[in-house]
Amino acid sequence: MVNVLVRDYADADEQGWLRCRVLGFLGTAYFDDVWTSYPRSTPGLSLVAVRAGQVVGICQASIADHGATIDTVVVHPDHRRAGIASALLAELKERLARQGVGVVDAWTRDDPGTLAWYRDQGFTVTYRYLHVYASTPEEMRAAAGSTAGLLPRSGFFHADTQDPEVEVALRTTFARVHACHRFVAEISV
Ligand SMILES: CC(C)(COP(=O)(O)OP(=O)(O)OC[C@H]1O[C@@H](n2cnc3c(N)ncnc32)[C@H](O)[C@@H]1OP(=O)(O)O)[C@@H](O)C(=O)NCCC(=O)NCCS
Repeated sequence: MVNVLVRDYADADEQGWLRCRVLGFLGTAYFDDVWTSYPRSTPGLSLVAVRAGQVVGICQASIADHGATIDTVVVHPDHRRAGIASALLAELKERLARQGVGVVDAWTRDDPGTLAWYRDQGFTVTYRYLHVYASTPEEMRAAAGSTAGLLPRSGFFHADTQDPEVEVALRTTFARVHACHRFVAEISV
């Protein structure tokens, strides 16, 4: 087993926690699921694995009536296959057992390494559904015309407007609105 300390998340871990998460997701189906701050609103258990002062693994679980759900388990790509995720899960399960929680589940996508890890840890798949991204205008049209029962979860739109009132209305309605600027510079030839 690798020389790693598993302990509770602390506020001072935030930057290390975010970096571990974003780097850990980079090569996976969650590559664009980027968080910029630690989700303090989620109650439950939050563990970190620390090696030489660096957060190299994170594991977060919420607890509800039906049992616990692993919301995040990520190991920094430079520290994989060293038993870090297994150590985090072992500690998580021990703590859940102490709280009388008898079942833990997790939702994850189709990364072969992650699926192999969950299976190795004794998890079995009981349900699956699809996450479908419409990433181009053509795919948006295909989604609009689909009969597969697609449920919209989020959207990205261009608003080609110069009307300040429209912009205010959009910013009032939507939490995330960015202005995209075209810069131009003259080049002396
Ligand atoms: C899944 C993940 C957490 C595993 O972390 P890890 O610390 O490398 O895993 P461990 O060292 O504890 O692996 C234990 C066993 O799981 C299996 N396993 C882990 N990664 C594997 C891989 N890429 N391919 C095949 N089997 C794998 C192996 O049986 C391994 O034992 P071995 O190394 O002796 O063969 C890590 O790959 C990761 O961070 N993935 C990206 C993040 C992610 O998608 N998380 C899930 C969604 S929240």
